[in-house]
Amino acid sequence: MTASELRKKYLDFFKARNHVIIPSASLLPENDPTTLFTGSGMQPMIPFLLGESHPEGKRIADSQKCFRTQDIEEIGDNRHTTVFEMLGNWSLGDYFKNEHIEWMFTFLTKELKLDPKRLYFTVFRGNPALNIPRDDEAVSKWQELFKTIGVDAKTADFSERDGMKDGRIFFYDEKKNWWSRAGTPDKMPVGEPGGPDSEMFWDFGAELKIHETSPWKNEVCHVNCDCGRFVEIGNNVFMQYRKTANGFETLAQKNIDFGGGLERLASAVDDNPDIFRSDVFKTLRETIESLSGKQYGANANETFAFRIAMDHMRAAVFLIGDGATPSNKDQGYFTRRLIRRALRFADKLGIKEAMATKVANAVIASYGDHYTALQSKKDFILTELEKEEDKFKKTLAQGLREFEKISSGAISGVDAFNLYQSYGFPIEVTEELAKERGLSLDRIAFDLELKKHQELSRTASAGMFKGGLADASVETTRLHTAAHLMLAALRTVLGNHIEQAGSNITAERLRFDFRHGAKMTDEEKKKVEDLVNEAIIKDLPVTIEELSKDEAKAKGATGIFDEKYGAIVKVYKIGSGSNQFSYEICGGPHVTHTGELGGTFKITKEEASSQGVRRIKAIIEKKKISAPR
Ligand code: ALA
Repeated sequence: MTASELRKKYLDFFKARNHVIIPSASLLPENDPTTLFTGSGMQPMIPFLLGESHPEGKRIADSQKCFRTQDIEEIGDNRHTTVFEMLGNWSLGDYFKNEHIEWMFTFLTKELKLDPKRLYFTVFRGNPALNIPRDDEAVSKWQELFKTIGVDAKTADFSERDGMKDGRIFFYDEKKNWWSRAGTPDKMPVGEPGGPDSEMFWDFGAELKIHETSPWKNEVCHVNCDCGRFVEIGNNVFMQYRKTANGFETLAQKNIDFGGGLERLASAVDDNPDIFRSDVFKTLRETIESLSGKQYGANANETFAFRIAMDHMRAAVFLIGDGATPSNKDQGYFTRRLIRRALRFADKLGIKEAMATKVANAVIASYGDHYTALQSKKDFILTELEKEEDKFKKTLAQGLREFEKISSGAISGVDAFNLYQSYGFPIEVTEELAKERGLSLDRIAFDLELKKHQELSRTASAGMFKGGLADASVETTRLHTAAHLMLAALRTVLGNHIEQAGSNITAERLRFDFRHGAKMTDEEKKKVEDLVNEAIIKDLPVTIEELSKDEAKAKGATGIFDEKYGAIVKVYKIGSGSNQFSYEICGGPHVTHTGELGGTFKITKEEASSQGVRRIKAIIEKKKISAPR
């Protein structure tokens, strides 16, 4: 079964159970200041899990592109990739555990025809300190379903000493069986939704663990170990809690958040434990084979390099497609790192000629049918990749020479920073070179060096933006509404060609990109500020309309009309009648009246972000509150 066939099977299955299928959101989250990338299918669903009504109803399904920065380090094994597709179905306060588990079991065993004897499950063990019970309900349901096919699914607490015993369903603590965007319960900011989960694993067979060269050969096996025998194919999250200042409260609605790795499910159906052999990688793999004259899998030492090159180039194509062009900042820096690291490993495979566009063509050929934007943006993607490859190739040889010079025993932070700054070596590349040559590298000193250089310091993957959902929510929501006012004002002052080309909003400031050929004059900036401030003073009401995409377009709504939204969209209207100020498609959240912005809107910066794209940073200056008498 190809990944495309599997995707379709899953979506059809949930469509038949009254789910509305929505398109994948961008890899670059639009109004989520907590994270740089969309790392799970549920991220774009947060407002709806918290109770906002979804325009498409209470049952939603999709296949969402995801990018996980934390997995960059994991690439090289048989099952991790940085970009992947997550199949998802959501109940937004509709069906819950029993119904969902039954469907999931049916989908795996009847639709995908996976052998139930090779399926294993984990559930939350419960934690009295959190006041959250053991998930016996999920256990009973899985057991009942196994019983219908004559399998006695025993439960067991995983133990280091005894391994899996005879179990099929295992209890784990919140380190494994709890899901929220932020991770374990202790890491969740107040207001963040989360819940216990039940994960599903496919057993590729004990040979994978015990083969001669396996480092896990003599270790106790369990579904969550790293030997590669078991692969997590999906996660059922019972999203029913919300973090409070002193624990958890139940959400107003109980939600289901299912996420299943499309490529991994396809590997399970094929019973092929190497995700890089699945059909989505076929053309890409063959392209690298022909460029290098080497065969994937022929030599274990080269397998790692093949996997890095395949994974990173595929991810770079998707990231550029969603607008993260290679740069030294924010998301673009991840694209840069991925491309440069891929190029170095391609170099190790003996590929000396330019390869980025050839490899990208292979990725686009494999995905273009489903992700049509990759086709329509093909020239842009290829050009960006070519430029980046060119840039890096020019300095790679020089940098390598420099590396040889400095490498006497240990590489200092300053050396590593110099390689980074002057030759564009991402730190991972320097680290890997050091390791290959048995040298030490002072990573902490490098990080300090990097921090010193303010504008290059913003490279951390997560937690870069202040504020989780709740602490940030009020301030961030205000600035989000301010961004709508500003877009409307920009269109009045600069013209109707102004459209949002990206935004990022934190509790402190809004950042907004738009295409415009010239630097804004001081006068233009002032006009925009004045218009926005007028709207704030008028305390205009903010209302929501739910319309079809076509209607919204016909009524002149601004916003992105292509694949991002489903058939029904929400339009936020600020002001009404002759006082209508803004009319924009958006997922929210917003304040209810512009007066709630509570201060003066001010543009703090207007600069070029990339060729033809301007970037504004703006804040709301709080009104001074006079001291009580
Ligand atoms: N949100 C859940 C996950 O990403 C399904 O694992």
